[in-house]
Amino acid sequence: MDQRGVDQQEADQQRAVLERVLAESLDFLGGLPSRPVNARADVDEVAAALGGPLRREGADPLAVIEELVAGAEPGVVAMPSPRFFGWVIGGVLPAALGADWLTSLWDQNAGLLVSSPAAAGAERVAGDWLLDLLGLPAESAVGFVTGGMMANFTCLAAARDAVLRRVGWDVEADGLPGSPPVRVLVGRERHDTIDLSLRLLGLGAGRAIEIEVDQQGRIVPEALAAALEDGPTDVATIVCLQAGNVHSGAYDPFDDAIAIAHRYGAWVHVDGAFGLWAAASPTLRPLLVGAERADSWATDAHKTLNVPYDNGIAIVADAASLHAAMGIHAAYLIQDARPDPMAAVPEFSRRARGFTVWAALRSLGRDGVATMVDGLAARAGRFADLLSRVDGVEIVNDVVFTQVCVSFGTDAVTREVARRLLTDGTAWMTPSTWHGRTVLRISVSNHSTTDADVDASVAALSRILNEVRAEAG
Ligand SMILES: Cc1ncc(COP(=O)(O)O)c(C=O)c1O
Repeated sequence: MDQRGVDQQEADQQRAVLERVLAESLDFLGGLPSRPVNARADVDEVAAALGGPLRREGADPLAVIEELVAGAEPGVVAMPSPRFFGWVIGGVLPAALGADWLTSLWDQNAGLLVSSPAAAGAERVAGDWLLDLLGLPAESAVGFVTGGMMANFTCLAAARDAVLRRVGWDVEADGLPGSPPVRVLVGRERHDTIDLSLRLLGLGAGRAIEIEVDQQGRIVPEALAAALEDGPTDVATIVCLQAGNVHSGAYDPFDDAIAIAHRYGAWVHVDGAFGLWAAASPTLRPLLVGAERADSWATDAHKTLNVPYDNGIAIVADAASLHAAMGIHAAYLIQDARPDPMAAVPEFSRRARGFTVWAALRSLGRDGVATMVDGLAARAGRFADLLSRVDGVEIVNDVVFTQVCVSFGTDAVTREVARRLLTDGTAWMTPSTWHGRTVLRISVSNHSTTDADVDASVAALSRILNEVRAEAG
């Protein structure tokens, strides 16, 4: 076969693969509203279907895709389903999915301005739109990372750089051995990824000073003030606040807490993985009053914005401290005085995550984002309202945003309802322990969830609860 024959063969194979994937995609998307949410196969079954020793000979690309669909699809949990309410998992907007396909198609390495003007340009615009939409300082640096965890890490790396630099220490050059101490204060109910970030940054999760919180998990400003007052003055200090408690959805009292923290020269970081998006809704924005005066903010696009995995966003008001923490220069790169996208993230080579965020924001527009966010909160409110009318069911949190925690009477009954729901398939919700009680967490994060989905899910929960009660006698 001559070279032209080989090229044509590959082009034909590529077309066959993409057409098969398109057909699979349309089937999957079309089936989501009626498909059971749970997987039909477990890990071992999927591994067995895909497994065996790696063969010497390869396979035709289309046959590979057929094999992958046959082996893996039964193990797919329908996370983009309108009745998926587990953890905090967003759905997928049509324009964002299309942009995600193009991201793979174009296969851009988004690290440098020169390596992909397309990726860098989209990230610049998406970043500017985000700052505007979320009401954050326009000159902030924006980094596109894998998720909320890496956004927290990235922001806290900038914080570490800045607070140590203020006391005369260059942590990027000299590291932490022998450095002045860094004092970190966190709310008792911060997300666990704050702890992991502190571990990775060498700040020590165990050294963080825990600040008392109220019934909803909000930091108590007087306790924060007392803790800051208690320590030495002029010590490098970072305060971590939260927009959206993973159980209650509650927001820290930013106005007071940030004023107090800044009085002591602290850097204030806000973990707003899903909750920062309340700022995009005129109705819900009051939850975030004062948050714009923080120094850094972490959020996700793959949660409330309904962009496909993975997509997190690190935002730092003082761009210089982020660039100092993350910037890198190498002789073989092509760089100029402008900061490259890689100066805002802990990665070198990277997927071009700005396309999907740009597409989501462009397709919804400012009003559409507000409507979507309001809709998520309204459906959460509907869950709370309907479930609170079921005999023996208690809504454990004040539902202010998209999170609802439910108790079905006793811990044992709640655990059993949660266990059965996961195999029932009508909806997916995940259990947890909050304030010493077993709860079922409902996180409404998918734009496609309708009132009817909420009603069907409540009906399933009521049915399962009756079964559990009947069996218990
Ligand atoms: C408040 C909060 N912070 C951080 C994270 C971590 O985000 P990710 O899973 O995108 O890394 C989560 C995840 O649910 C969260 O709710």
